[in-house]
Amino acid sequence: MTTDDVAEKVPGRKARGLWTGIAAAVAVVVLVAVALVAGQHYYTRLGDGLGEATQASTHAAIGGPFTLIDQDGRTVTDESFRGRYMLIYFGYTFCPDVCPTSLIRNTEALDLIGDKAANVVPILITVDPERDTPAHLKEYVKFFADNMVGLTGTPDQVAAAAKAYRVYYAKVDDKDGDAATYLMDHSALSYLMGPDGRFVQFFRHELDAAEVADRLRKLL
Ligand code: NI
Repeated sequence: MTTDDVAEKVPGRKARGLWTGIAAAVAVVVLVAVALVAGQHYYTRLGDGLGEATQASTHAAIGGPFTLIDQDGRTVTDESFRGRYMLIYFGYTFCPDVCPTSLIRNTEALDLIGDKAANVVPILITVDPERDTPAHLKEYVKFFADNMVGLTGTPDQVAAAAKAYRVYYAKVDDKDGDAATYLMDHSALSYLMGPDGRFVQFFRHELDAAEVADRLRKLL
């Protein structure tokens, strides 16, 4: 018995065939959507995956002047931190996992290097200035370290800082239509900048605290 025979003998078989076709079309659309999302994440990971070998060549291009607002509402620039190392992470306080993980990692790494950490300022620059007000940042950064600085600004100020550090970020459309609970897609590197404000090295999100501490010991 062939499938055509079955189609003739079973009532509604043709209708079911139509639905099978629709289901297949829906499956294709879903697969394409998944591929697009995966591609976007891969693109983001490319930025995170730049190896140390390429760091020298990107040295001159990472970092630069910024003007932002700290957690106490004061205007600060990159020059405000001259004479100290900056360990900068771009993220946002509503981030469910990646940002807290990176910030805890950075804090632990600085704890591990002891006295050498005294001249390093851990900094969170938000990519979500819409929700991350100075007051909100102030509540957030103190969970990680007493000396952590939280920086926000106007959307233009934040965009300029992110551009200087080649940081990718974008608001993720909220499918539930709840404007207050959107997520941000963003790259997740931490940047060590020297006392002269120039780029020293970046640390990928995947490194653990001990690995970052090892590198900091050699770099500081
Ligand atoms: Ni995040």
